[in-house]
Amino acid sequence: MKADVLLGLQWGDEGKGKVVDVLSAGYQVIARFQGGPNAGHSLQFNDQKFILHTIPSGVFHAGKMNVIGNGVVIDPSTFAEEVAMLTGAGFPPQENLLISRKAHLILPTHRLLDAASEAAKGKTRIGSTLKGIGPAYMDKTGRNGLRAGDILRPDFRERYETLKKKHLSLLRMYDYPADPSDMEDAWFKGIEVIRRFRLVESEYFLNRMLDEGRSLLAEGAQGTLLDIDFGTYPYVTSSNTIAAGALTGLGLAPSRIGRVYGIFKAYLTRVGSGPFPTELHDEEGERLRQQGHEYGATTGRPRRCGWLDLPALRYAIMLNGVTELIMTKPDVLTGLDSFKVCTAYRIDGKETLELPHSLDEDIVPVYRTFPGWKEDISQARHFSDLPEALRNYIGFIEKETGVPVTMISVSPDREAIIRR
Ligand code: GDP
Ligand code: IMO
Ligand code: MG
Repeated sequence: MKADVLLGLQWGDEGKGKVVDVLSAGYQVIARFQGGPNAGHSLQFNDQKFILHTIPSGVFHAGKMNVIGNGVVIDPSTFAEEVAMLTGAGFPPQENLLISRKAHLILPTHRLLDAASEAAKGKTRIGSTLKGIGPAYMDKTGRNGLRAGDILRPDFRERYETLKKKHLSLLRMYDYPADPSDMEDAWFKGIEVIRRFRLVESEYFLNRMLDEGRSLLAEGAQGTLLDIDFGTYPYVTSSNTIAAGALTGLGLAPSRIGRVYGIFKAYLTRVGSGPFPTELHDEEGERLRQQGHEYGATTGRPRRCGWLDLPALRYAIMLNGVTELIMTKPDVLTGLDSFKVCTAYRIDGKETLELPHSLDEDIVPVYRTFPGWKEDISQARHFSDLPEALRNYIGFIEKETGVPVTMISVSPDREAIIRR
């Protein structure tokens, strides 16, 4: 059996949580492969709304195994809150969640270092979620990190104190007054919560599952344009959000990968700093924000809104080897007389379809205007239920990218999905 991957093709918040929840019905194992509590994955069913940060979005389906892979960074405090939320809602995850022993831990001082680093950057700050993601991955690659499996060692507290001491001296270098002590109580309680879960060598577990013919869906976090290598550096996150991240983040060989589902919004959003060539600074952008409830699921920050960027979408499809596209939120465009799509960039007077090394350059988007539609589409369940203008828009994207749009989401609810 091959593993399928679902990942975001934009700057995150494409609707991964909702679609993974929908697709989970057809998979036996769902695994997160990178990122951490910077992610906020929303899903909705039976009039209940949930936001997950670390736990895979398959957790609401009985009989499915969920795995937090080695590529993820876990904050025990956030993790414990998530477990409490799920337990309170009647979905206790103890039996259907495994945690990789190789997943790294986010310490309270990582969060402080994130804040110190952002404060020091001033105007050039990344707009980080301040969840400690960057500093935790820095300790991973710097070979200083603590891993989930370390909590079982007798000298775990000592190792924690050693790393904390290093962080405190870094914080002094930043001249950032910070004291982690009021965060430590919750953090160590979180460690006790993690202890109640099965800590495993998840690479063995996942490969064994595939050998036994079980189906596996890998759930990405963030999006391709936030990838550490190929995103809008330095305004990116600190992990590989692309399909390659699923290999390193789960311990799967390239030959193990089957379908790659690429998910994108019918328009575009970004939260935090960094270039955004098709951003709208006018009332049209504000309309998208209000209609689409474009406020961060993790930080509550208003998301920046703009038109779909086809050069960027094609780039993401190339990097990920996307085999199927999933469009979300076309319902947010309902009611517009017309809307735009960027089909190329004009840089120094020349048109190009390729992304330059930095999107900071003077890019003038070349737009094509599409007619809108007025019909409410949130109850549509078949492609033929959709207005012609939207069907044409989808056809245009398929033609431009060469990849079929196999699913269309038309409202936040689990039921609101069109499969083709
Ligand atoms: P994720 O990070 O990719 O999982 O996406 P988020 O959960 O951060 O943001 C997506 C938002 O859009 C959430 O509030 C979802 O409930 C909502 N959403 C998902 N799909 C649709 C859709 O098709 N239409 C509308 N209107 N909202 C959607
Ligand atoms: P999901 O999985 C949208 C953005 C932050 C910031 C940059 C770096 O919900 O799609 P970090 O905290 O990683 O240091 O922040 O990346 N960012 C996201 N934007 N959705 C996310 O996750 C994001 N995770 C990080 O806003 O600009
Ligand atoms: Mg999100």
